[in-house]
Amino acid sequence: MSPSQPNILIIGAGVIGLTNALVLREKYPTAPITIVAKHFPGDRSIEYTSPWAGANWCSMAHDNGLLEQCDRISFERFKGFVEKGLTYETGVAEMGLRAVFDAPIEQTGIITEETGKVWYDELVGGLQHVKKEELPSGATFAVDFPQTFHINTQTYLGWLQNQALSKSIRTVRRHLPSLASLLSSFPSTTILLNCTALGSYSLTDVRDLNLYPTRGQTVLVAEPATPIPRMYLRSPARIDPSTTYVFPRPHGGGVVLGGCRQDGNWSADVDPELAADIVKRCCALCPELGRPEDLQVISHNVGLRPGRKGGPRMEVERRREEWGEGVSVVHCYGHAGAGYQASWGVAEHVAGLVQKTLEPGSKL
Ligand SMILES: Cc1cc2nc3c(=O)[nH]c(=O)nc-3n(C[C@H](O)[C@H](O)[C@H](O)COP(=O)(O)OP(=O)(O)OC[C@H]3O[C@@H](n4cnc5c(N)ncnc54)[C@H](O)[C@@H]3O)c2cc1C
Ligand SMILES: *[C@@H]1O[C@H](CO)[C@@H](O)[C@H](O)[C@H]1NC(C)=O
Ligand SMILES: *[C@@H]1O[C@H](CO)[C@@H](O)[C@H](O)[C@H]1NC(C)=O
Repeated sequence: MSPSQPNILIIGAGVIGLTNALVLREKYPTAPITIVAKHFPGDRSIEYTSPWAGANWCSMAHDNGLLEQCDRISFERFKGFVEKGLTYETGVAEMGLRAVFDAPIEQTGIITEETGKVWYDELVGGLQHVKKEELPSGATFAVDFPQTFHINTQTYLGWLQNQALSKSIRTVRRHLPSLASLLSSFPSTTILLNCTALGSYSLTDVRDLNLYPTRGQTVLVAEPATPIPRMYLRSPARIDPSTTYVFPRPHGGGVVLGGCRQDGNWSADVDPELAADIVKRCCALCPELGRPEDLQVISHNVGLRPGRKGGPRMEVERRREEWGEGVSVVHCYGHAGAGYQASWGVAEHVAGLVQKTLEPGSKL
C-alpha cells in the first residue's frame, strides 16, 4: 500500500471518534477506515459520555490558538448544516443564548488573555449586553449570543454513524483490554486513532494519569407549553462547579437542565438532592419553565466529561515496539466539556497530524 493510502483504525464511537472518521474519509476517499468501539450511538452507559451532553456551542476556549480554532471550525460546520437545510437530519439547530454572570467580566474566563477580547464576539453575531433592569437579581452582567447552535445529541450521533456507514467506514463492536490485543486482530493498520475518552482506564498497557472525570448530572424535562426562546446559562464563571443551564434540545429532544461539575467523581448514581437543586435554579433562571412542581421529568442523567490536566491531547506518539512495525498512534482525547463544539476542528487538526506522519521521511 502506498504511504499516501493509510489503513486507519479508530478506537471510539463517541462524537470525537465518529467526526474524526468522517473528516478522514473526506481527505482519503478510498482508504480503509474501521471504527472499533464498545459503545455506539443508541447505547446509554456511564462509560459513554456523548449521549449525555447538553449539547450546545458556547466556547470555553481562550488560548488565542488551537482550541479557539477548533471551536470556530465546528461553529462554521454547524452553520453549514442549518444553511443547507440539514437541521432535521442532523439534529443541529440555531438558537440564541443568554449567559448571566455573577462576577465581573475579567473573572469569568470568557476573555482571551492575549487579546483582551471575547474571541467569538463577531462569530455569534455580536454579543449584546443585557440591560440592567432585565438582569436576574444578584447578577453582575449578562450577554446575549444572537446566534449559536444547540444539538439533539440522540439525532446527531445517529446521523454521524449513518454518514460513516454510508461512506464505507466499517464499524466493529469490541471491548479492548489492551491496544496490543487490537493490533493483532487488525494487522494491516498503519494509523491508529485513539478516541477513547475516559476509556483509557481499562486499557492495560497505557495509562494517562492526567485524565479525570468531571461528573455532570442533568434532568431531562418535557418542553413547557410556553416555548423557550433561547438557551440560558448562569454562573460565576464560564467554567464553574455551580453553573446553572437550560438547554432546550431541538426537534423533540426535550429540555436539559443542569448542572454540576464534580471533578474526580466516577459515580453514575443520581443524587436526588442535587437534582432538586438543579430544577430550582433552572426555574429561577428561565421563566418559561414555570414552577418546579409543574415540570414533567423524563429522566435523570449522569455523564462524565473526559477532563485532562493540561487540556486535550491531540498528538502523534512515536511507535512502540509492542505495537508492531509501521503503526503510528494518533491521540485524540480529553475534550472535557467541549467535545461537540470542538469536534470538527479537532478532526481537521487530527487529519493534519495524520497527513504529516504519512509524509516521506517522517520520523513518526
Ligand atoms: C452533562 C454534560 C453536558 C455536556 N455539554 C456539552 C455541551 O453543551 N457542548 C459540548 O461541546 N460538549 C458537552 N459535553 C461534553 C461532551 O459530551 C464530551 O466532550 C464528548 O462526548 C466526548 O466525546 P468522546 O467521543 O471523546 O467520548 P465518549 O463519547 O465517551 O466515547 C468514547 C468511545 O470510546 C469507546 N471506548 C473507550 N474505551 C474503550 C475500550 N477499551 N475498548 C473499546 N472501546 C472503547 C467507548 O465505547 C466510546 O465509543 C457535556 C458532557 C456532559 C457530561
Ligand atoms: C489512548 O488514550 C488513552 C486515554 O483515553 C490513554 O490513556 C492511552 O495511553 C492511549 N493509548 C495509547 C496506545 O497510547
Ligand atoms: C460523587 O457524587 C455522588 C453523587 O452526587 C455523591 O453521592 C458522592 O458523595 C460523590 N463522591 C465523592 C467522592 O465526592
